[in-house]
Amino acid sequence: MIAASNDTLIAVVTGGSREIGRAICLALSGAGVRVVVGCQENVDLADQVCGEIERDGGNAVPFLADISNPQGAEALLQAPLRAFGKPANILVNNAGICTPGNLHTITDSDWEQVMATNLMGPWWTTRAFARLLDGQEGDIINIASTAATAPLGRSHHYVASKAALLGITKSLALELAPAIRVNAVVPGYVATERHKSGSVKEQGNILDRTPLCYIIKPSEIANYVLYFATMQCHATGTVLIMN
Ligand SMILES: NC(=O)c1ccc[n+]([C@@H]2O[C@H](COP(=O)([O-])OP(=O)(O)OC[C@H]3O[C@@H](n4cnc5c(N)ncnc54)[C@H](OP(=O)(O)O)[C@@H]3O)[C@@H](O)[C@H]2O)c1
Repeated sequence: MIAASNDTLIAVVTGGSREIGRAICLALSGAGVRVVVGCQENVDLADQVCGEIERDGGNAVPFLADISNPQGAEALLQAPLRAFGKPANILVNNAGICTPGNLHTITDSDWEQVMATNLMGPWWTTRAFARLLDGQEGDIINIASTAATAPLGRSHHYVASKAALLGITKSLALELAPAIRVNAVVPGYVATERHKSGSVKEQGNILDRTPLCYIIKPSEIANYVLYFATMQCHATGTVLIMN
């Protein structure tokens, strides 16, 4: 735990404009954390998230930056300094993309974009976060996917990016201890827009493979992020699977 009351906590959430990221921003703000809501292009949506937070008495700013390049990641981590006068002490690496495809249809450029967003992005944000914290306490929470551990049979670039994200979660946890804890939340199928186009049969198949017969909501993922970010949690290198 960061030994302070939550009003000293500042979070950067990548991909905070929509779905799981939006839920994480709202949950953190509900716990008194000031939030930078990151987005790549939908700044209007990031603005709406900030509006919701402000209406509830919280404090948040939107920030548009493409984390699939080091300059974008660096600019995003500078945002709390300008908005709140301090660097962030919570980083949630949530932004992620998945282009559909198989061995024959995934292009080299698909590979590069997925790896740059899902793996290099968290690497660059982590580097900037740790440098700005300069030895002070902090928490990094990486949002991976059960695709990293259970075979999908498709979207192999996405699988590889999330498996590698779990790998660097554990490895960075060792390097950055004891000041910065690095943990991962690993969602299975979450009720989000990206699955709305999925057939009733596909959703039925998911439910059949789910012992609790239940599809997780973004707010539930957010609660686990909140646990790592603000609770008395002496854990690092942990992988919390929610399937
Ligand atoms: N949904 C699921 O069932 C599920 C399951 C397992 C894991 N996950 C993981 O959970 C995370 C969130 O998933 P989601 O379904 O909520 O995602 P989503 O609705 O597709 O939203 C993606 C977010 O990432 C941002 N983003 C994408 N590329 C970016 C870039 N290059 N730079 C900065 N921001 C970028 C988007 O910003 P804009 O709005 O500006 O485009 C958006 O805020 C992802 O890492 C995903 O892999 C999701």
